[in-house]
Amino acid sequence: MHLLKTERKRGLAGAVHVPGDKSISHRAVMFGAVARGDTRVKGFLPGADCLSTIECFRRMGVEIRRESETSLTVKGQGWEGLVEPSRVLDVGNSGTTIRLMLGILAGRPFYSAVIGDESIGRRPMDRVIQPLRRMGAQVDGRKGGSFIPLGVRGGSIGGISHRSPVASAQVKSCLLLAGLQAEGKTVVEEPSLSRDHTERMLRSFGVELSVEKGRVSLQGGQELTAQYVRVPGDISSAAFLIAAALIVPDSRVTIREVGLNPTRTGIIDAFQAMGGEVEVTVTGEWSGEPVGDITVSSSPLNGVEIGGEWIPRLIDEIPVLAVAATQAEGQTVIRDASELKVKETNRIDVTAQELRKLGAEVEETEDGLIIQGKTPLSGAVCDSHSDHRIGMAMAVAGLAAEDGVTVQNAEAIRVSFPEFERTLHQLSSGGS
Ligand code: S3P
Repeated sequence: MHLLKTERKRGLAGAVHVPGDKSISHRAVMFGAVARGDTRVKGFLPGADCLSTIECFRRMGVEIRRESETSLTVKGQGWEGLVEPSRVLDVGNSGTTIRLMLGILAGRPFYSAVIGDESIGRRPMDRVIQPLRRMGAQVDGRKGGSFIPLGVRGGSIGGISHRSPVASAQVKSCLLLAGLQAEGKTVVEEPSLSRDHTERMLRSFGVELSVEKGRVSLQGGQELTAQYVRVPGDISSAAFLIAAALIVPDSRVTIREVGLNPTRTGIIDAFQAMGGEVEVTVTGEWSGEPVGDITVSSSPLNGVEIGGEWIPRLIDEIPVLAVAATQAEGQTVIRDASELKVKETNRIDVTAQELRKLGAEVEETEDGLIIQGKTPLSGAVCDSHSDHRIGMAMAVAGLAAEDGVTVQNAEAIRVSFPEFERTLHQLSSGGS
């Protein structure tokens, strides 16, 4: 078991990069795998989740060459290039891998068996399996087909219109990937806009799709053409460093070349609404995604109320937002976030439980958290619960805690930010 210890600090400083965006890295491999030609990817996130995606597609016969940790070439041969895997497809801890891959498998004329780790074993798959069955795919699994291990027999499928009850990019992307292989038109509606990396990247791979507010549609029978994908830094990883710089006194930190897709920048809006000094400079566009630098200075923070359409734009950042909220004056309310219960862990319960160990005043609600600040944090031994974002959130809390924090099971962090510890050291020693 890896232990990560962080201590109370002053003056984080320097300019750093964060690893490539996880959502975009997964999609670059998957879309490259079903496209025709060589898709070159730069800035790929070599985190455990994206490596699971690579391994699954290799098991379906796709050649993927890794020129370095962060550069790779996916040698796609079109949809038909995928072959029936003779071994199980193991998605590890990755919800994005399993849900998006199911959309691809639904239209392929072969059988596959899909498994994952204990956390994936608890996460609901019926939100994609029900509509995939309506399209004509045969998917079975535990508890009536909603949980791994899954067996998928894909083949001829037809387009559907699906209104998703949750704003989920994984549901939307799964159905669009199935829809591309289906007969006729597929329409996906969601209650508010989830991250739109799939729509942007499919377009760059030559797919025609139409996007209206909350509604994406495309015609089946489309091929993808290989592309060059340059992956920006992951704003979800940057969020931990932004929060750290805000709550550690006398800090000034810049994070360079971060993805600034508006469907992902809700956390910047939230920190700014709390009074945080967070400056954003857009420097360009990479593969259809806006990119820029973020500079943060330590700031006195106030509580904030967050809910509704704001939630999908910062869903993965809520644990670290809760950490910052313990250091803000007044009350922070997070509502409409019951999706947090079905992430890598139940992040409502786990965030509250771990923050209380440090003396924070946190209350769980049906669909979120209420945090009272500002509370001095004491030291404690915390646990990641094998959830990367909980591990990093607690490590950030340790930077403001009287006797620091020890995070147990910190190896989970390699899922999305393998360099996290080194990056924190770099900022602590003021390096660039
Ligand atoms: C992701 C979508 C989000 C997010 C996850 C990555 C993606 O999940 O929480 O970390 O890459 O599509 P949902 O789409 O289920 O909300």
